[in-house]
Order: sequence, then structure tokens, then C-alpha cells
Amino acid sequence: MEPHQTPPQTEWDAFVAARTRAIRSLLGTVLEIGAGRGENFSSLASDVTWLGLEPSTRFRRILTETARRAGHSQPPLVATAERIPVRDAGVDGVFATTVMCSVSDPDQVLKEILRVLVPGGRVVLAEHVAAPSGSKARTAQRLVRPWTKLFDHGCDPTRDTEAAVQRSDLDVQEIRRFVVPVIGRLRMPFVVISARKPSGS
Ligand SMILES: C[S@@+](CC[C@H](N)C(=O)[O-])C[C@H]1O[C@@H](n2cnc3c(N)ncnc32)[C@H](O)[C@@H]1O
Repeated sequence: MEPHQTPPQTEWDAFVAARTRAIRSLLGTVLEIGAGRGENFSSLASDVTWLGLEPSTRFRRILTETARRAGHSQPPLVATAERIPVRDAGVDGVFATTVMCSVSDPDQVLKEILRVLVPGGRVVLAEHVAAPSGSKARTAQRLVRPWTKLFDHGCDPTRDTEAAVQRSDLDVQEIRRFVVPVIGRLRMPFVVISARKPSGS
């Protein structure tokens, strides 16, 4: 490759770039659900007030330290996203990255997100999602599901998060779709969804 040429962007790079851009667009007080070890701090806008929610004790221990080092003073909330310990209209933005596949009740989580958002507040979900029915990728997702459920934070690879958002009361603003190679020729769909709580609600 010539020195002046930009290396080709992979589909994964494109997904990460879209995810970062969407998270960086959230302003004010922003709640991250299923914050894990705190991998998303570098994606946040600099003057955001971060609130994190993380049910896993092991992750929370690491997250507490990562958050402190990133300058976020609030300790992570000990809760699941099905019951968020934040008052109604308490935050300006909410985001989650590869969490909706793991929650036990996605519709209830979306109701909770709507409840804690201010009217007009925004949510960003960056997730892997179910492959089209009948595809090889969907068969692979079905085959690995018993293992991912047990060993990967309860992850269900066949979860259709896009459909769950579409049937919620959120106003969808943008859905970016990516198909990322995972193993050999197998490719899995990922989405970055930006949505808004309607202003009048
Ligand atoms: C694959 S990890 C992703 C962690 C982090 N968001 C990231 O992108 O690095 C899934 C996360 O979802 C969390 N999780 C699982 N069930 C949850 C629930 N019901 N409510 C909130 N978070 C949950 C797990 O504890 C874990 O931190």
C-alpha cells in the first residue's frame, strides 16, 4: 500500500466508529446500563455527567476503579436495567453496548429507559442482533445460544433488539446496520440505534 493511502476500513471498524459517534452525541447526565468494566469512557463527550449501572459484582469492582480513574465520581448503581434506581425523567441520555442480548426482559428495559429519560432525551443502543431467519448465521446463533446463555452473561445471540425498539414508545431517529465477519465466512449483524423519548410524554 502507498504511504498516503488510508487502510481499508473493516466492517467492525465501521461499527465501532458509528457506536463511538452515537455515544459521543449524548450530553448532560448520561446513564450507561450494563457498563461492564468501563470500556466506553473514551467514547463519552468530555463534559458528560456519567452514571453507570452494573449488576455483576465482579465487573462492578473493576468498573468502580475504571470510573474513578476516568474522573467519574458516582459509584456504579447496583441493579439490573429491568428496574433502574433512577427517578422519573432523571437523565438526559441512556446508552448500552452489547447488553440488550443479556437482559432478561428487553421490553421492560425499554420501558424503564423511557421512564428515566427526560422528554426529548436520547438513547443509543449498539448491539449484535438476530441474523435473518433461515440464514446460516441464524442457525449458528441458535446452536451457540445454550453456551452463550450459560457462559456469556446470559447472552441470547438471536435477540431482535431492533424489533423491540420499534414496538416501544421510543421515536427511532437512526438505525445503522453492519454485518461483521466473526469466524471464517460466518457474518453476524450488528446495529447502532439512536432513538428519542417523545417530547410530549
Ligand atoms: C457483553 S457485556 C458488555 C459490557 C459493556 N457494555 C461493554 O460493552 O464492554 C454484557 C453486560 O451486560 C450486563 N447485564 C447482564 N444482564 C443485565 C441486566 N439485566 N441489566 C443490566 N445489565 C445487565 C452484564 O453484567 C455485562 O456487564
